[in-house]
Amino acid sequence: MPLLRLRFPLLSALLLSAVLARASTAALPAYRNPALPLETRADDLLRRLTLDEKLAFTHGASTFSTAGIPRLGIPERWMDDGPHGVREDVLRDSFDPANRHDDYVMCMPVLIDLASTWDPDAATAYGNVIGEEARMRGKDIMLGPGVNIMRTPINGRNSEYFGEDPYLAGRMAVGYIRAVQSHGVASCVKHFVGNDQETQRGSIDVEMDERTLHEIYLPPFKAAVQKGGVWAVMGAYNRFRGQYCCENDALLNGILKKHWGFKGIVISDWHAVHDTDGAVRGGLDVEMGTKRGDYDGFFMAGAFKAGLLSGKYPMSLLDDKVRRSLRVMIATGALDSREPGSICTPEHRAAALRVAEEGIVLLKNSGAALPLDAAKLHTIAVIGENATRLQAYGGDSARIKALYEVSPLEGILHRVGTSLNVITSPGYSSTTGTSPAMIAQALAAAKAADVAIVIGGLIRERPYDCEGMDRASLDLPWGQNDLIRAVVAANPHTIVVLVSGSPVAMDEAWLSRVPAVVEAWYGGSEAGNALAHVLFGDFNPSGKLPCTFPRKLSDSPAHALGAYPGKDGVEHYDEGLLVGYRWFDTKHIEPLFPFGFGLSYTTFAYSNLHVERLATDPDAVAKITIDVTNTGPRDGAEVAELYVHEEHPRLFRPEKELKGFQRVFLKRGETRTLTFLLPRQAFSYYDPVISGWVMDHGRFDILIGASSRDIRATATLDESTAAPRANPG
Ligand code: GLC
Repeated sequence: MPLLRLRFPLLSALLLSAVLARASTAALPAYRNPALPLETRADDLLRRLTLDEKLAFTHGASTFSTAGIPRLGIPERWMDDGPHGVREDVLRDSFDPANRHDDYVMCMPVLIDLASTWDPDAATAYGNVIGEEARMRGKDIMLGPGVNIMRTPINGRNSEYFGEDPYLAGRMAVGYIRAVQSHGVASCVKHFVGNDQETQRGSIDVEMDERTLHEIYLPPFKAAVQKGGVWAVMGAYNRFRGQYCCENDALLNGILKKHWGFKGIVISDWHAVHDTDGAVRGGLDVEMGTKRGDYDGFFMAGAFKAGLLSGKYPMSLLDDKVRRSLRVMIATGALDSREPGSICTPEHRAAALRVAEEGIVLLKNSGAALPLDAAKLHTIAVIGENATRLQAYGGDSARIKALYEVSPLEGILHRVGTSLNVITSPGYSSTTGTSPAMIAQALAAAKAADVAIVIGGLIRERPYDCEGMDRASLDLPWGQNDLIRAVVAANPHTIVVLVSGSPVAMDEAWLSRVPAVVEAWYGGSEAGNALAHVLFGDFNPSGKLPCTFPRKLSDSPAHALGAYPGKDGVEHYDEGLLVGYRWFDTKHIEPLFPFGFGLSYTTFAYSNLHVERLATDPDAVAKITIDVTNTGPRDGAEVAELYVHEEHPRLFRPEKELKGFQRVFLKRGETRTLTFLLPRQAFSYYDPVISGWVMDHGRFDILIGASSRDIRATATLDESTAAPRANPG
């Protein structure tokens, strides 16, 4: 060694540190040794646990934690909401805020806003923020993303999910989950399954057929598990086919753990457990809740222990549950050194702005009313409560104590500086509605301005966009239709900006007259800056609707069939596969704005669609290429959407189904060739007779376009002459 040290000091230092490191890990007990395989560490730790220590993993010990085991150096495991930011700390035994001063965080745009980007890379950037901020806040499990399907446009929690299409929801969830988990924080996909409304969520019994379950409601969860590698799944409050989801053997042990190979933990929603036997045998791993007095009163605590001691439950049942928790703990590095995390960094702010900008959907822009040219304006009027209302601290469990939140008005003022005269007027109030005096003041502002911008929509409080209740209607509340109608009559240059988390109906009386409409969603901390960048053309809007905006609620399938909100505690998903655009397209109903719709300040052309059947590729049956060209006056991003239609399916199928999409940025005049490799799964449907997926030997139309109703190119894949191939998983 001396000679080595003399001639190669760095090498010798490295060798020495490697030797010392090996010696140090070798001295560690196996479960603490990061050099050993996860299962080896879990086995070792499981062997060391007493019965009571094992039971500490099966239920909460405070509102958001499970107990640690100091004897073995096992820390408490901390969970927290929510999908678009790390919730403020609450008291140990309630949801009441702890009123700390060190738990301010980045408020990211709500998930339906993220879905509107159709940009999986944006989902990754988003998840990185959640992961880093969760680490900084000492959280081990983040309770998100939510991937329930928008079956009704008035679900109170639509803003927390990715819209009406399972493929889009799955693609966006995977990017989010992988990024969160890359920071040593487990993601917990929720709410498994069928929690697609808030009305009677704690008791409603959801009934649906097998195809609907496997083709619509399971796929985002399956993607989260099999493609996202999610470490936790939250069981939903509702019942499914008669059994509570957190006690549902078929869902948890059957589909999730056996068929999908899920190795992580199933956590209950808070107080979603109703029976020890059901939970223990049904596949629940961790019961959560709060304020039950002593936590030993949980179904998966004292009663479970009694059953183990009496021999009612084999110890193997407990060991499997605990092993899953140990896996998650070890996989997230809870026993090793982890990155410290960070809060509201420049990167986090940039990610929040990016998602908020990309998620904004331009719904109407006649006469190129937008973008506004500040140099050609003198006065603008900004009207509406949502111009100034801060939205982050709303939505119940999804509320975020934001370090900052730029309101739409602040964003506009910051953007225009002193170059413009900005007149403001509340226009309406979410507490008192619209008064003649408020309308008069708004009209005075509109008349005095070159352009009037009405910023309305909904709020993140019950009974609007909030957990615990569904909306009573699709309509814009508080007299906004009257307000907008009056404003556009006073000033034809009126822009309507909707700040909401779900679809709203729009009165034709004003929609036909305003030149521009923007859906801005709840854009989080950077909302106002993102909106201003779109309105003034610094950012060319590229967002596309992840959900259908119906003309009226009764056009929506669950409402048209009277299936919502259920009857006598049971809800039959009578619409089956025909959720969202699947219904509107199959039934030829004209929506107000279709799924996948969104305008740009430029234009795009699609050409040269080619479909090639792949005979030998193990992962794909078809290669699709298409050229997209920016044919307009400015650079911009387009989302090309690929739908599949089967011409003569053996079983009924919706008119078309989204099976691919790509977001591409194109400079003016630029053309890019997009390639889609479609697996058999993209052409298959679930056959309940064989409990598996089938791709017919038939003809499939490939439809590519700018929205579900704006198909720009079609081609056909003819499988009728193809040799049979193995069915997909
Ligand atoms: C709530 C929600 C769930 C949340 C949990 C903890 O009731 O349904 O999404 O993560 O409780 O707050």
